[in-house]
Amino acid sequence: MVARLLTNIGELLTNDPELGDLSAVGRLRDAALVVDDERVLWVGRSSEAPDADEHYDARGAAVVPGFVDSHTHLLFAGERSEEFEARMAGERYDGGGIARTVEATRAASDDQLREESASRLGALRAGGVTTVEVKSGYALDVEGEARLVRLAREFTDEVTFLGAHVVPRDFASDRGAYVDLVAGEMMRACAGATWTDVFCDEGAFDVDEARHVLEAGRAAGHPLRLHANQIRDIGAIALAVELDCASVDHCTFVGDTDVERLAHSNTVATLLPGADFSTRSPYPSGRRLRDAGVVVALATDCNPGTSYVTSMSLIIALAVREMGLSVDEALWSATRGGAQALRRSDVGHLSVGARADLVILDAPRAAHVAYRPGTSLVREVWRAAHAGEVDSSVVRHDTRR
Ligand code: NIG
Ligand code: FE
Repeated sequence: MVARLLTNIGELLTNDPELGDLSAVGRLRDAALVVDDERVLWVGRSSEAPDADEHYDARGAAVVPGFVDSHTHLLFAGERSEEFEARMAGERYDGGGIARTVEATRAASDDQLREESASRLGALRAGGVTTVEVKSGYALDVEGEARLVRLAREFTDEVTFLGAHVVPRDFASDRGAYVDLVAGEMMRACAGATWTDVFCDEGAFDVDEARHVLEAGRAAGHPLRLHANQIRDIGAIALAVELDCASVDHCTFVGDTDVERLAHSNTVATLLPGADFSTRSPYPSGRRLRDAGVVVALATDCNPGTSYVTSMSLIIALAVREMGLSVDEALWSATRGGAQALRRSDVGHLSVGARADLVILDAPRAAHVAYRPGTSLVREVWRAAHAGEVDSSVVRHDTRR
């Protein structure tokens, strides 16, 4: 395997305190690193760098670990911009629009879904995302959900079964039958997913229904995650902590008891500022969660209803401006925090042995990601080879081409 040396890095965030200045982001200046097709082989000062087969000059740029987008609904057809406009004019989000996306997604061919979703994935990747989670949840019938899980597998290893997104119209008069279907036949058809998730909130599934589906997911061998406290606090976080969910996502409305619960758990709080932005909801305080000791992740929640966002840098900028995170904390949450939300130790940092996933910025300091919102500052994305993928070398996207 070819070893590549990247030198002259103005600022390197490793997310490994020991490698850097002992801060959580593990900052190193005048740094260098060596990678092969898969892993980080060496990290340190430029002046101490070992020789390698190939040399790249970062020309003083900042380098950060590839972003880990731990929450997306990338696979869907159609769009719902009219709902967005209505919300900006004062209407409330209640999940009702999901049915429109279900209709469009059911009607779309495999190739149409592939093509539309690949273009969104391309946007995420160009913005520096190297690991992405993708949920099903816009078919809500057995065959359709199994198809989404299958298609999602073409994009990522982190596939989440979200048959319990909302109760579809055809089951409106018998929601119990739908919950049983999701936990039974649909779960069996979607066993190839990695994770099980439920939208546990007002207008979606209550705590008992969510418990039933999550327990079935666990029995199918899936670790768990949960959409919680986006619209209202109905007790979803206590359920997530009790069932050891890897992550509770949204957390727009969280009481003090739940903050304490999360702080004493292995459950990450994943904040989705794109959804709060697009539904005109209040932004939850990331500061409050962090100060209490909760691990916070940031993700795009890319979906046509509440967050048609494919820019991790926008998410970071919103988290800094509106959620009280420092720039370093937001960068950490979008990388190592996301990895923790997916229970991954091989991504989200640049220690020796980690996956060779990194972003070279068109900026001398990583803070520019939040400091210069609205401009893509990604010069190159290096993404390690993934088993089964056609391109088995470190992938470089020169976004200036
Ligand atoms: O994460 N909250 C539930 N699911 C998505 C929105 C789905 C939609 O409105 O299409 C979310 O916000
Ligand atoms: Fe979501």
